[in-house]
Amino acid sequence: MSQILRRPRRLRRTDAIRRLVRETRLDVSDLIWPLFVHAGPDPIEVASMPGVLRHSLGSLVRSCAEAEILGLPAVAIFPSISPSLKDPQGAHGLSQDNILYQAVRAVKKECPGLLVITDVALDPYTSHGHDGLLSPDGNTVDNDATVEVLCRLAVLEAEAGADIVAPSDMMDGRVRAIREALDAARFLDTAIMSYAAKYASSLYGPFRDAVGSKIGKNAISKSTYQMDPANRLEAKLEVRLDEIEGADIVMVKPASYYLDIIREVRDIAAVPVAAYQVSGEYAQIHAAARLGWLDYQATRDESLLAIRRAGADMILTYFAREVAEGISRDQGSR
Ligand code: PBG
Repeated sequence: MSQILRRPRRLRRTDAIRRLVRETRLDVSDLIWPLFVHAGPDPIEVASMPGVLRHSLGSLVRSCAEAEILGLPAVAIFPSISPSLKDPQGAHGLSQDNILYQAVRAVKKECPGLLVITDVALDPYTSHGHDGLLSPDGNTVDNDATVEVLCRLAVLEAEAGADIVAPSDMMDGRVRAIREALDAARFLDTAIMSYAAKYASSLYGPFRDAVGSKIGKNAISKSTYQMDPANRLEAKLEVRLDEIEGADIVMVKPASYYLDIIREVRDIAAVPVAAYQVSGEYAQIHAAARLGWLDYQATRDESLLAIRRAGADMILTYFAREVAEGISRDQGSR
């Protein structure tokens, strides 16, 4: 007679029983697809992000239409600005006809039901690549001066048609200021998805290739505003503050190295929690798969499932489109 009373393996025997007891599922509705757009006539691949393009306006709109058909609820659009249009103030961000606002208008015209999310930050537009304005002595990123510009950016994005604005700069007090600016301009229904716990991570490299926001060697570090990867309690403080200031959704970024933070944030927040599987996470999986060291699809799917299991209600991921395709295919075959 067997001595083992409890045999958990019973519930792992077949695919059917595993499906029956599965605790976490990835749904197309959980995914947000980040997309890049530039002013050129043709899409250009981002070298460090296989399969990711800097879209032309035309190819961006086509991709958004496909996303909508696949059932993806939202895209996040990031501009890649020509270096000749950048300056230390990021003035091009305030130009109503820049490629981001054109893109948002075009996408909302073609796909009115698809949610468009835009970053509120200056890094696509500044020659130094920082998310904000430098102080007059050039030694720091000036919080309060930056917040004023962020408010103007957010209103311009909302005017172009963005459904959700996403301050990604980690300045203090910007969520409240942006909420007030949006409300004053009567954009009462434009939501704020705050990059609440955004870490100063090594994993943003490929994104900075994509938008050309690499920071020079001797410049100020983004660690003066993004969070220290060593810190956990501070993430809870940031989330609490952003909730009080009026964030509709809070985000943890990056995702995979910060699953503990996602869990803690999910446990304390009263609003939906987003996680951003960033460019470096995407690039790592592609690179290992190219070398034949990891199975591409299995690693990709496990990474997203783990982020969901940790507590993310929604995930920004460059895999969104292909995973959505896979999910609809699987559901069709059952
Ligand atoms: C900039 C911004 C960054 C990302 C999203 N918005 C990079 C940065 O902070 O330098 C990173 C996204 C990614 O790596 O995929 N405000």
